Amino acid sequence: MVREEWNSQLGFLLAAVGSAIGLGNIWRFSYLAYEHGGGAFLVPYIVALLTAGIPLLILEYGIGHERIGSAPLAYAKIRKNWEWLGWWAVLFVMFGIVLYYSAVISWCLNYFLLSFNLGWGDDPDSFFFKEFLRVSESPAQTGEVRTPILYGLVVVWLISWAVIYRGVQRGIELANKILMPLLLLLITVLVVWAVTLEGAVEGLKAYVTPDFSKLSQPKVWIDAYSQVFFTLSLGFGIMIAYASYLPEKANITRNALLTAAINSGFSIFAGIAVFAVLGFMATTTGKPMSDVVSQSIGLAFVAYPKAISLMPGGNLFGALFFLCLVVAGISSAVSIIEAFIAALADKFGVSRKKSATMISMLGFVGAIIFTTQGGLLWLDIVDHFLTHYGLITVGILECIVVGWLFGTQRLRRHINRVSSLNLGVWWDLLIRFFIPIILSLIFVGDLYTELQKPYGGYSWTSLVLIGRDWLIVTLAVAFVIASRPWHTGHHKLEGRSGSSTSLSE
Ligand code: ALA
Repeated sequence: MVREEWNSQLGFLLAAVGSAIGLGNIWRFSYLAYEHGGGAFLVPYIVALLTAGIPLLILEYGIGHERIGSAPLAYAKIRKNWEWLGWWAVLFVMFGIVLYYSAVISWCLNYFLLSFNLGWGDDPDSFFFKEFLRVSESPAQTGEVRTPILYGLVVVWLISWAVIYRGVQRGIELANKILMPLLLLLITVLVVWAVTLEGAVEGLKAYVTPDFSKLSQPKVWIDAYSQVFFTLSLGFGIMIAYASYLPEKANITRNALLTAAINSGFSIFAGIAVFAVLGFMATTTGKPMSDVVSQSIGLAFVAYPKAISLMPGGNLFGALFFLCLVVAGISSAVSIIEAFIAALADKFGVSRKKSATMISMLGFVGAIIFTTQGGLLWLDIVDHFLTHYGLITVGILECIVVGWLFGTQRLRRHINRVSSLNLGVWWDLLIRFFIPIILSLIFVGDLYTELQKPYGGYSWTSLVLIGRDWLIVTLAVAFVIASRPWHTGHHKLEGRSGSSTSLSE
């Protein structure tokens, strides 16, 4: 099977940016900034970006390009017995993250429609939790499926399926060439509109005035590193697969820097709109800035609807805001599914059309649990375990496999050969020592806090069965798939800088 390729470097860049910019950039980033001292959060965020985010993005681009494969193939071509790592990443991301991610996009789609007549009424808080989600008491009570969310989910999976079905160039590349400029336009309109609202200045002051005292809290740093992981889609297997579709001539370092800069620029820019609106709300309701948002999920689905209802022309503003989230979300969801499709094609030679249809159907069915009344609680637990433990573990292990088994020097030579900006030895040091150490500290720190007090106040049974076991089951499946023989000859092909030791086995 001939490997598909991007039509242009720009096409690749837009697709990678489309993957990076997602729900995480708009509400997650803004909420973290709000919670962790406004502008001061930018300090750990930028430190995390420079010391882990960008170096790992270069690693993922580099390994996907050099080994010419999706995550499982790339690792198998480094050492046969590390193939499972690639499978594990693409499995828990495909049968975990994208399931609840698609449910949240469906909420946004519903809120897009609700915006037109401010359908959340006078009390967006009880509307969201009691009427829209009808949240149950505990994860064990899944209750009924919420039909509006289910309908939205059908739309989300149909669009994602259609994009992936059409292939790398005519599907993913084309979709991102349309969606990314649209997203930029939407966010620009929102920012310009938001800063002209009464009280916007108050919000912006809170955004740019740093509260440095927060920087002494380890949680702020842990959140910054996790956010950088999530936002750059690191550990998802996506960037490896996307880079494997690059032609021989590929400017890896420049593309990585551009992806990271555009992605973070977008977050910071979107933060202006979010904070300006919060300032407007604080002024209109006479509440202090620190009291307008109560919890993370509430920023987009409670605080924003409240502000939208108070704003002149709010329904249009709301529609644009939620459309923005839908567009950002879908381009990321597509990339997650593609990471899995690429892996299936590499290992089993399954045709794109067949696997896109099969996997989208499975994904849709799997996501239904998140449309139930227990959905929000499931989402909270699964998201916590997969992003805090799953992605971080993959990050640590990829530093070990690439840094110590493949060799950073060897990968750096390849990257420098095809890039315009050269990497120095500092990169090797970050990958081999700094990043695995810092990520391990985060892992241990999180685990320690968790063992003192169960996450989110859930019962241990829920956390173990839904959170931990989600990772364990996908890990077991990863081992099984990795033990199966290759149905294609891809694993026998050399990398771009020659064969690795594993192939002589
Ligand atoms: N990178 C994607 C996001 O931030 C997954 O939402």
